[in-house]
Amino acid sequence: MISAKVQISKRVSGIAPSQTLAISNKAKTLKQQGVDVIDFGAGEPDFDTPLFVKEACKKAIDAGFTKYTASSGIPELKEAVIAKFQKDNGIAYKPNEIIISCGAKHSLFNVIFALCDEGDEVIIPSPFWLSYPEMVRMAGAKPVYVQASEANGFRITPTQLEKAITPRTKVFILNSPSNPTGAVYSHAELMALAEILVGKGIFVISDEIYDRVVYDGERCASISAYGQKIRDLLILVNGVSKTYSMTGWRIGYLAAPLAVAQAVDNLQSHSTSNPTSFVQKAAAQALIGDQSFVANMAVAFKERRDYMMERFSKMPNISCVRPGGAFYVFPNIAKLKRSSADIAAELLEKAHVAVVPGSAFGSDANIRLSFATSMENIKKGLDRIEDFLVKTR
Ligand SMILES: Cc1ncc(COP(=O)(O)O)c(C=O)c1O
Repeated sequence: MISAKVQISKRVSGIAPSQTLAISNKAKTLKQQGVDVIDFGAGEPDFDTPLFVKEACKKAIDAGFTKYTASSGIPELKEAVIAKFQKDNGIAYKPNEIIISCGAKHSLFNVIFALCDEGDEVIIPSPFWLSYPEMVRMAGAKPVYVQASEANGFRITPTQLEKAITPRTKVFILNSPSNPTGAVYSHAELMALAEILVGKGIFVISDEIYDRVVYDGERCASISAYGQKIRDLLILVNGVSKTYSMTGWRIGYLAAPLAVAQAVDNLQSHSTSNPTSFVQKAAAQALIGDQSFVANMAVAFKERRDYMMERFSKMPNISCVRPGGAFYVFPNIAKLKRSSADIAAELLEKAHVAVVPGSAFGSDANIRLSFATSMENIKKGLDRIEDFLVKTR
């Protein structure tokens, strides 16, 4: 037998391994050993998918809706997505400008691949969702980070954006509400960023996956409000994962100018083809059906966020910017004078609390805690963190 030396492609061997995996593996091992670990690592709502969505899926299977669909998605779901973008973003799209994919992550991957060439630069505000830079690098482009200061609520300023732009800048990735910081940009802030981007002809990928998980009003502002002037440069990305607690169903979607949408469709048609047929039927119902689930979930998350903020404000050596959306807090632990990975490891070993080190998101001064877990767990976990901070003072 010939044993070939495995040579992984440059494109894939350059991908950074997940920094979050080490902690979650350790947490899993501890749990298996019977240790009561409080897990603040989850990136998904802790609620069940609404019953009417499950019913729609079962009905589609029973009706035999189990074959290939058009690679860009079924008309029924596209119409539901068009209605959502019209209502929440104020932009009218045509079905051929909408692409349904296997999760918003897939939508983002596709559009970054469709837009970026070797040597292109992509501006990413930091702290960032950890998949953006890896996707950009896989596409051969270069991530350019703009540091969003904690003092400014983890939001970048128009001046910072302007300074980061070079002749090679192709795309700006915006994520409001943000994972990991929960930062939400105001309408005025977004219009100021839009003015610069439109002036320079730079594409904007607006990842709005947490747009319905917001705490000040039912909806948050979107850069799409800049209107027709930004339409040709705008790619709106969203999905059902966070809004309807459907992370495992894998449906995301985007709206883009026709040429970009066609390129994404082409790419998708040669990789995954269509997202699961009967799941598309269920996702359409999620979007057009009773929305009370979304409001109820946001109320529960708000209560947890407020409780966490209150508790952190009384703990030593930790401070926390109030998140306006998503279900994460991103407290600053710089006063402890250790790396975020060290603090995360210590919290797990000594306090049996799992958090994600901020270094995974580009900020070693912070740790991320998800509040997509029960109030009981949150109380218990925060008691342990407080105890740890008092002892290590
Ligand atoms: C900011 C952000 N964008 C996109 C995604 C991907 O979501 P989906 O489950 O639809 O792929 C996530 C999931 O954690 C996220 O946090």
